[in-house]
Amino acid sequence: MADLSGPEPAIAEISSWPGYLETPLWSLTGLARHFGVASIHYKDESGRFGPELASFKALGAPYAVFRLLAAEIKAKTGKDASSDELRNGKYRSITGALTVCVATDGNQGRGLAWGARQFGCRCVVYVHEHVSAARVAAIERFGATVVRVPGAYEDSVARVNADAAAQGWHIVTSTASHGYAGRPRDVMQGYMTMVEESLRQLPNGDRPTHLLMQGGVGSIAAAVFTGYFNAFRGQSPRFILVEPEEADCLFQSARAGRPTPAAGSLRTIMAGLACREVSPSAWSILQWLTNDFVTITDALAEEAMRELARGRNGDRKIVAGESAVGGLAVLMLAKYDASLRQALGLDDRSRVALFGCEGATDPEAYRRITGISPGVRPQDPS
Ligand SMILES: Cc1ncc(COP(=O)(O)O)c(C=O)c1O
Repeated sequence: MADLSGPEPAIAEISSWPGYLETPLWSLTGLARHFGVASIHYKDESGRFGPELASFKALGAPYAVFRLLAAEIKAKTGKDASSDELRNGKYRSITGALTVCVATDGNQGRGLAWGARQFGCRCVVYVHEHVSAARVAAIERFGATVVRVPGAYEDSVARVNADAAAQGWHIVTSTASHGYAGRPRDVMQGYMTMVEESLRQLPNGDRPTHLLMQGGVGSIAAAVFTGYFNAFRGQSPRFILVEPEEADCLFQSARAGRPTPAAGSLRTIMAGLACREVSPSAWSILQWLTNDFVTITDALAEEAMRELARGRNGDRKIVAGESAVGGLAVLMLAKYDASLRQALGLDDRSRVALFGCEGATDPEAYRRITGISPGVRPQDPS
């Protein structure tokens, strides 16, 4: 099983970075009333390290880049480099010769490019042909080279594997299929920052009964479920994993009882979740902890984005991207589907935790779906 113990060093490191701020955990009382549950808490990653990053992905890959570069410096000089020293270019002669790379639908590449720029190494990001121009531009803004690969996500993965092997580059990913070289443990340890923040922010006594989390390869869900399982032990919430219908590798794996590819086309607006294969290390956790696997349509995700943008019954208005709303989408489904509500054990005593893992990371798409320009932050209730 993947080792997620001892995330404290990762959390301490990331919390020391310039611009670090806890992201908020909102209590959505209007929405809770609407869905007939006792409470809803929503961890809002839309402001994570500012609007150019705006997702939890800014925690994992940059931390892995820091660890990778620090290890290379240690091997060459015997010294323990701090992140400040890397940022100030003290070891640029070593780090500048190193290249990190990844195949991504967007947020992972953005986080990696930001980490590489901060810590002073080169970065090459591979995107498949359906990744939007806005997502590519956001990666390039951090100085990374973007390579567009014809075909789907798998084609970009094959290409990054081949190029990294040929060039001696370092792949940084949460998917353990690259073995330790992919540094999945570092990436997931970085994610634990979001998990620990949310646990600290829960109001006293509001132990969640249900935790709904979106899944791509499963790494962030594995980190969140592990954190909540360890925090609440015998009383951990019901863990519900949500995926796009067209990218259901975790659902298919649960059905088969072993890692199994998604059956769908991977064509979904939920770009961050459009993955064919599970991460084996994430799966080794999720197969034990996950209670329910649910898939949703794009249309439902769009409706959930509009729901959060409007703010129900005086709730705060929240900017949530396409990959952030799967959990809320399941609550929407369950409101009108009594058998689903019953199957998930949802009732008026349920205390629900949701993770909104990104803001408007594709501003064009956000505007098209909600009718709101993400530059103009939806107003708080007066
Ligand atoms: C906003 C968002 N949520 C969830 C995920 C899925 O994360 P994982 O692939 O670790 O399951 C991603 C991945 O890019 C993402 O960008």
